[in-house]
Amino acid sequence: MRRIGMLTSGGDCQALNAAMRGVVKSLFTSGEAIEIYGFLDGYKGLINCNVRMLDGRDFSGILTKGGTILGTSRTPFKTITEPDENGVDKIAAMKQNYYKLGLECLVVLGGNGTHKTANLLSEEGLNVITLPKTIDNDLWGTDMTFGFQSAVNIATDAIDCIHTTAASHGRVFIVEVMGHKVGWLTLNAGMAGGADIILVPEIPYDINKVISKIDERDKRGSHFTIIAVAEGAISKEDAKLSKKDYKEKLAKSPYPSVSYEIAAAIQKKTGREVRVTVPGHMQRGGSPCPYDRVFASRLGAEAGRLILEEKYGFMVGYKNREIVKVPLKDVAGKLKSLDANSSIVKEAKWLGISFGD
Ligand code: F6P
Repeated sequence: MRRIGMLTSGGDCQALNAAMRGVVKSLFTSGEAIEIYGFLDGYKGLINCNVRMLDGRDFSGILTKGGTILGTSRTPFKTITEPDENGVDKIAAMKQNYYKLGLECLVVLGGNGTHKTANLLSEEGLNVITLPKTIDNDLWGTDMTFGFQSAVNIATDAIDCIHTTAASHGRVFIVEVMGHKVGWLTLNAGMAGGADIILVPEIPYDINKVISKIDERDKRGSHFTIIAVAEGAISKEDAKLSKKDYKEKLAKSPYPSVSYEIAAAIQKKTGREVRVTVPGHMQRGGSPCPYDRVFASRLGAEAGRLILEEKYGFMVGYKNREIVKVPLKDVAGKLKSLDANSSIVKEAKWLGISFGD
């Protein structure tokens, strides 16, 4: 009998259920005797042994379902070695529960923070396999994460809807897209939605360049402008600040987010009407798009195969159109940022899109 533990950690996204279903289907199809233990609400479930034994019925009908049937939460890696609110040693508790249940392997679905803890557990001797989830697409070692394409669809829909209103009113519209550290989602949704200006964390902007683009469009007779702004977009001036000083500046800012600061600056300098739309967590919600359903199922199927072959310590990822296994130690702690000199950024610029740089 093989006993497999499974958990989802960090922010949710589309296709988490599809991926778990993929793992379980792949394991059950082998015909081996397998028990699946689902830990509830992320690493918290493993720490507190809040666990449920799952069977085939739990995974039936969930391919198209958003969210996660196991629930999720954030357990920050930076405090993983500190005791939790009940004084529990988190790492020791996770290991103890893993051995107590007689698990052969732990399947962890998550993003960057989740992978750091997964790698630590692997280094501590647990058999771990991970799957790359996040709408941010910022995990090192994989060209794609599941959730990303679904979020691109939703953010693009938001920009599409704003487009008609912006054109009718001749206004400047900012659509704030998720992504505090990276701009993959903003870039892709921005290009798909025909944004005129795209501001991402990796390419600090100059507000005067942003305004020049608005003016240039105006002179050409296009009296509206769509700006796709990542949550973590940063001005050239702010990019010069130390992390600590920038954090302090944000804490004191009268604006709820960078988009409102940009809107106020444009309004002040040009007198134009600017509106901000924030689709927010809608971007992580709803049914996964067909791409994500297929992609997450493929990743899950490969994870199942690795478990059957007893190959552990890997993230199942996607490189050069192939499903691959990447050592966890190579993934943990690294961010896959957008390269300001990448071909997609150059092509966007050739299309006339401004990055405000
Ligand atoms: O990591 C995914 C993500 O959706 C980011 O794009 C976003 O900045 C963050 O999570 C929001 O986190 P929370 O759900 O905790 O507000």
